[in-house]
Amino acid sequence: DTARDLAGRHVVVSAGGTREPIDPVRFIGNRSSGMQGYALARTALARGARVTLVAANVALPDPAGAEVVRTGSTREMRDAVLKAAADADAVVMAAAVADFRPADYEDVKIKKTPGAEPAPIRLVENPDILAELVREARDGDQVIVGFAAETHDVLENGRRKLARKGCDLLVVNQVGEHLAFGRPDNAAVILSADGEAVDVPRGSKETLADVVWDLVAARMI
Ligand code: C5P
Repeated sequence: DTARDLAGRHVVVSAGGTREPIDPVRFIGNRSSGMQGYALARTALARGARVTLVAANVALPDPAGAEVVRTGSTREMRDAVLKAAADADAVVMAAAVADFRPADYEDVKIKKTPGAEPAPIRLVENPDILAELVREARDGDQVIVGFAAETHDVLENGRRKLARKGCDLLVVNQVGEHLAFGRPDNAAVILSADGEAVDVPRGSKETLADVVWDLVAARMI
């Protein structure tokens, strides 16, 4: 019975896009809508899982039955994901996490000075939540899934990223201004650490989500 194949399982899904504040009114962000992560949460609920959804800057209705934890920045998401992952059977990092954040946060709005050069924004590296999960859950049976949004050399970059991050599965999709982000449909190749590549043709984000859960469920002990 695949309909309730996640019954008794706790899964954690991250969704949306983190925002790194520059000053009280500005941030560095990305185009993620959270739709793919929410579709993963809804399909996992339908298959019987207990779902913790760690959302960053998503304007979508909470999936009924999910525990939704709202976060803003990458560091907030990191804390929420690591906490929820402690007793999780699977973690799917569908969120678009900012790789960098401004080194300094100005606690008052930055003003322009007429005639002066704008001050540069210096960036520092954010924690890599996915890499940290892999390092800390390696000994357990937890299944860890990453997403890769690539604009070019999608497969080559995906395989390199899977190896570098060390997760069990990597969902690689092509993004761009008019591809994937904010759209109801998606297409992807799901790469696995054991060398498998599953092609998911363009379809709904729910369809892709169900294929992800099929592969996750097959790897659960
Ligand atoms: O390296 P890249 O950002 O392309 O990796 C994408 C995958 O890694 C996604 O699953 C994303 O959620 C995760 N990630 C993360 N922490 C970061 C950057 C990315 O967990 N700082």
